[in-house]
Amino acid sequence: MTTITVALGDRSYPVIVENGLLARAGDHLAPLSRGRTMAIVTDENVLPHLATLQAALHDAGVASEAIVLPPGEGTKSWAMLETLTDRLLALGIERGDHVVALGGGVIGDLVGFACAILKRGCGFVQVPTTLLAQVDSSVGGKTAINTRAGKNLIGAFHQPALVLVDPTTLDTLPPRQVRAGYAEVVKYGLIDDPDFFAWCEANAPALIAGDPQARNHAIAQSIAAKARIVGEDEYETKGRRALLNLGHTFGHALEAEAGFSDRLLHGEGVAAGMALAYAFSAEQGICPPEDAARVRTHLAEVRLPDGLAAANSRQSGGELVAHMMHDKKMNAGTLPFLLARGIGRTYVDKQVDLATVAAFLDRQPR
Ligand code: GLY
Repeated sequence: MTTITVALGDRSYPVIVENGLLARAGDHLAPLSRGRTMAIVTDENVLPHLATLQAALHDAGVASEAIVLPPGEGTKSWAMLETLTDRLLALGIERGDHVVALGGGVIGDLVGFACAILKRGCGFVQVPTTLLAQVDSSVGGKTAINTRAGKNLIGAFHQPALVLVDPTTLDTLPPRQVRAGYAEVVKYGLIDDPDFFAWCEANAPALIAGDPQARNHAIAQSIAAKARIVGEDEYETKGRRALLNLGHTFGHALEAEAGFSDRLLHGEGVAAGMALAYAFSAEQGICPPEDAARVRTHLAEVRLPDGLAAANSRQSGGELVAHMMHDKKMNAGTLPFLLARGIGRTYVDKQVDLATVAAFLDRQPR
């Protein structure tokens, strides 16, 4: 068992990583239940894990009530937020209760936001069941829904009280989803940990294939990196947490081109985006070209998109940059870019000229 603390003063919380943890979750959840029925929110794809969790709670003497929502990004909507908050209110959830979010990033983000506003804030616990949610979205308190104008535009910072990560839930995850989640793992190496990037180069195939040792090491390393950055800059105001957006601005444009559909998963967009951020940095003379090549080679080796062609992009540089302008990081007409001086040397650049980015994208092979 590995426990990582997200250090946020009196809102600090543990992230526990352990194989088989779901079946033992009652031990960790019973103290939060206050002897009351716990609400578990999940989606239809997660039903086998729901059964395990409910049995674990039952064994620990905790009654539970499940709310099962449809799977998919469409669930992060105003309509589903209303459905969920109505259901939670009907269950009589109080501020001192803890709602359990069991699932991937969609469930975690929606439930977190519902709990941020329910009775002006109730407790919640993240039990992430996808690699992407385990290494990124379940930790750090970003919660949101999507609107007509874009993804994650309505939300709040609301930290969970506890995160329970059972890596064995990934055994049944489709391989494409595992690879997409891996993009967020390798991102931590590229941000500020060249040794971890080298570890990823050597171990990614085993990790993606489900080797328990490699997988658990990668998950724990990633959560530790995220916990450290969130502890330094919870509200993304000090320039540290923004580093977690490496690959996301280019990736966002590609996801927008694909209509935020299954044609390009979020992690796939981030992978292509990281390759582009490094290629752009190299073209600007900021990053050694061999480092940019190393990033691209690694992503291709693990069968993640390594640029525009692999992401099936057809749009012009100008059209892609237009998508970027809808990014919520836009600040007084400028868009901060995550660029790199080398492997593990990511920084925020607020001076990037969007016309230069568009011209760079137009030169990329399709
Ligand atoms: N996923 C980026 C962040 O939590 O800040």
